[in-house]
Amino acid sequence: MNRHLISAGDLGKDDALLILDTAEELARVSERSIKKLPTLRGRTVVNLFFEDSTRTRISFEAAAKRLSADVINFSAKGSSVSKGESLKDTALTLEAMGADAVVIRHSASGAPHRLATWVRGSVLNAGDGTHEHPTQALLDAFSMRRRLGGLEGRKVTIVGDVLHSRVARSNVLLLGTLGAEVTLVAPPTLLPVSVGSWPCEVSYDLDAVLPKSDVVMMLRVQKERMNAAYFPSEREYSRRYGLDRDRFAKMPDDAIVMHPGPMNRGMEIAAEVADSPRSTIVEQVANGVTIRMAVLYLLLGGETA
Ligand code: CP
Repeated sequence: MNRHLISAGDLGKDDALLILDTAEELARVSERSIKKLPTLRGRTVVNLFFEDSTRTRISFEAAAKRLSADVINFSAKGSSVSKGESLKDTALTLEAMGADAVVIRHSASGAPHRLATWVRGSVLNAGDGTHEHPTQALLDAFSMRRRLGGLEGRKVTIVGDVLHSRVARSNVLLLGTLGAEVTLVAPPTLLPVSVGSWPCEVSYDLDAVLPKSDVVMMLRVQKERMNAAYFPSEREYSRRYGLDRDRFAKMPDDAIVMHPGPMNRGMEIAAEVADSPRSTIVEQVANGVTIRMAVLYLLLGGETA
């Protein structure tokens, strides 16, 4: 495996399956009353979060601690970043404290790639701007595989604000590698110009795609990244692209609903759909810890300092 995890596109099929299979083994540890393994004892993982996070930050911390690593949590708020310290100087400061791995979330697409040129340890992308979120795609694939039994030939529909979604891009890349067939559904204004070169289909008609879907993944409408009007109103968006009870009924009986969180309940997804037994949203969070354990284990486990 590569030393870093920056893009889901860097993972070949064998690498991706190794991570999913390792996560399956580690899930058994998470079910025990004592959840710790000694694998990363003496190693240091730095969580470097320049952008807000609940699920990713907490699950990387839990994953590193379950593998007995020392964990340093850094958040830009309250740090010397507010005095103008650069990403490079911040990273070198943390490395001087002995980081073997740096987990980074940053609002700038490409920040993890830059970081990997400055530090000796492994860099794990925990979400960079609108670019990628590879561990989210891995936990999504793991969640799908657990519910559906396999990904080869499965039809995955990803719906909503693709333009601002690092989750969509990483999922398209990883699911394609794993043999699933992905369709993106969004208003034309919320699709990237380059989408024609992505390895997936594109549709503007959610009602036509739902009956053929094994998985429907709803994306959050990222209002905080919108500097223009991308749709007439929230009500209109919800009417055309929201997963409400009537649309949910159009899905096959064994199809599942996913959302990476955080959700805008009542906008892209109705509360009763999000809370239904066919929703994997809570499982995705639990699987996030397991997948991040697997990634840390594979990137750091075999090396000595
Ligand atoms: N899915 C996800 O990345 O959630 P957070 O922003 O809470 O980490």
